[in-house]
Amino acid sequence: MKGVILAGGLGTRLYPLTYATNKHLLPVYDKPMIFYPINTLVQAGIKDVMVVTGGPHAGHFLRVLRNGKELGLNNLAYAVQEGERGIAAALSLAEEYVDGENVCVILGDNCTDADIHKDVVTFEEGARIFLKEVEDPQRFGVPAFNDEGKIIKLTEKPVSPDSNFAITGLYFYDKSVFDRIRKLKPSDRGELEVTDLNQSYLDDNKLGWAMLNGFWKDAGTYETLIEVGTYWWKKRLEEGSALGRERK
Ligand code: G1P
Repeated sequence: MKGVILAGGLGTRLYPLTYATNKHLLPVYDKPMIFYPINTLVQAGIKDVMVVTGGPHAGHFLRVLRNGKELGLNNLAYAVQEGERGIAAALSLAEEYVDGENVCVILGDNCTDADIHKDVVTFEEGARIFLKEVEDPQRFGVPAFNDEGKIIKLTEKPVSPDSNFAITGLYFYDKSVFDRIRKLKPSDRGELEVTDLNQSYLDDNKLGWAMLNGFWKDAGTYETLIEVGTYWWKKRLEEGSALGRERK
């Protein structure tokens, strides 16, 4: 399975911090934010990864990530998106790189310590999304369940959420994903929405889901940026370690 990390956008929700650099390179405790999703992939055995970025600071990634070897990657590729056309549009830039394999997509601001290795090994086809119970589901994509616990609908940032679960920014897709993206229509905000992509799998009865076990947050707001950093600071203190500080 290949990995794709989506790390574009202007980071407007974090202005003025993101005048200086791309959101996904901002500090989360002792590491740039994107190190966390990279680590999630590496721990799961996914070591061929493409970073899709964009915006005014796209070049900063090369300086920080270089060829990815220090971070445990075998192969690190980059793609640059011109303009902001949504998560699904950004993913479409990875089509050649993914080259017909299954793909694990993770949003570059999604920080988790969940172990997804088993999911990677068992995933065969269709799509799989990962859910986390949250207090503010209206900030996220949200599933609706029927009485049998089956997902029947997905809504992006609902005013009245159908459940208390966020669809996290971690997705597995089979090779049909790029054809599906080609069929998507832009949403009211003019973007190709990942929730519409997931809905297309659901419509074909090919959407599986799992709970994400462990800490998870997107670090895309001032508050969650602090919360996520604080979580890792405390975790490191408990472990008595401060891994990853050295740089050769
Ligand atoms: C995106 C997705 C949303 C998902 C969230 C997870 O939202 O559109 O469905 O729940 O990531 O972080 P964004 O953070 O881009 O507003």
